[in-house]
Amino acid sequence: MSSVDVVEGRLGPVDQIPVGEGRAFLVGDEPVAVFRPRSGGLHALRAICPHRGGPLADGLVDGEVVMCPLHNHQFSLVDGSCATGTDDVAAYSAAEEDGELVVRLRHT
Ligand code: FES
Repeated sequence: MSSVDVVEGRLGPVDQIPVGEGRAFLVGDEPVAVFRPRSGGLHALRAICPHRGGPLADGLVDGEVVMCPLHNHQFSLVDGSCATGTDDVAAYSAAEEDGELVVRLRHT
């Protein structure tokens, strides 16, 4: 038996996220922010900023970085790492499958 448990969220059309922005979703009981950067692709992070709980889906997306709207900490959309001195945020898998947004959370 595998020790990896995957929770999958099928979240509807990718087009509901404007290019260059993020939107918040719930996958299982996990709040997830999905971003559609202008450079292409999709990225998913835990939606709650580890600094003081800011809404990352509302942050400014610049390249492959999102800036939290509350105190401007910046997180990589690729791996959730923070370059501005607070904790990293969890990163998840996001993909487009037949025009639909699919996010997968892995719990080990
Ligand atoms: S809550 Fe996100 S930077 Fe402070």
